[in-house]
Amino acid sequence: MTHSRRPLIAGNWKMNGLTDEAMDLATGLVTRMTKMPNAPFDMLLCPPFTAIRMVAEVLAGRLMIGGQDCHAAEKGAHTGDVSAAMLADAGCTFVIVGHSERRTDHGETNAVVRNKAKAALAAGLHVIICIGETEAKRDAGATMDVVRSQLSGSVPGGANSDNTVIAYEPVWAIGTGRVATPAQAQEVHAEIRTWLAVRLGDEQASQIRVLYGGSMKPDNAAELLALMDVDGGLIGGASLMAEDFWAIAQNCIS
Ligand code: 13P
Repeated sequence: MTHSRRPLIAGNWKMNGLTDEAMDLATGLVTRMTKMPNAPFDMLLCPPFTAIRMVAEVLAGRLMIGGQDCHAAEKGAHTGDVSAAMLADAGCTFVIVGHSERRTDHGETNAVVRNKAKAALAAGLHVIICIGETEAKRDAGATMDVVRSQLSGSVPGGANSDNTVIAYEPVWAIGTGRVATPAQAQEVHAEIRTWLAVRLGDEQASQIRVLYGGSMKPDNAAELLALMDVDGGLIGGASLMAEDFWAIAQNCIS
C-alpha cells in the first residue's frame, strides 16, 4: 500500500448468503465500521443479486455495495441476467466483471468482459475488472503474457482511476488456500501498473487501485497488503465471516 491510494477491501460473497446469513454478516460489519468513523480504507460487499437490496438497507451507505456480474446490454431479452442499471437501482455503486469463475463457468472472453465493463461505466458504476493466470500458464512461464493480454482485451476505453479497479486473482490461488507469495504478487502488480502507465499514462497508473485476490486470510493479509503495488484485497471465503473480513481490513491501518 502507498499513502496516495486509498485501500479497498472488497468481499465477493459468490453464491453464498441466504437472508439470515447475509443480514448477520452485513450487520456485523456495519457495527464494526460505525465504531471506526474515520477508517482509512474503503469497504465493499458484493453479495449475490438476491441479497443486494436487503444488505444495502443494512449498510445504509456506511459500507459500499456491489454486484458480482452484469450483462453487457442495457436491457432486454436476456433471461436470468441483470443489467448494470438494475444494480445501480438496487443501491450498488460497484460491480465485479471478468471473475475467473465467470470466465470458466460461463465462457466469458475478454471481449465479453470489456463489454460488461463498458456497460457498467455507462450506468455510472465503478468496475472491478478481474484478471489472473491459471496454474498451467504460470508453470509455462506465461503469467505476464496472460495478464497483459487480459488487460488489453478486458479494460474498456474510458477506464480511469475514478471508475476502475483492477483485481489480480491468480486462478490457482482462488479458494485453494495456496496464496501467492509476496514476491509473486508484487511482481505481477508492478507489471499491471506498468501496463496501465502505457495505456492510461503515468498519473492514472499511479492512482488506479490494483487489488490482490486468492486465499487472502487474516494470517496472510498483512504481508500482501504491505506490498507497494497492492492496494487492497478481493476476498472470497474470508469475507463470509465478519470477524475475519474485518481483521483483514485492519492491516490497512498504519
Ligand atoms: P478466496 O478468497 O475464497 O480464495 O476467493 C478469492 C476470490 O475469488 C475473490 O473474488
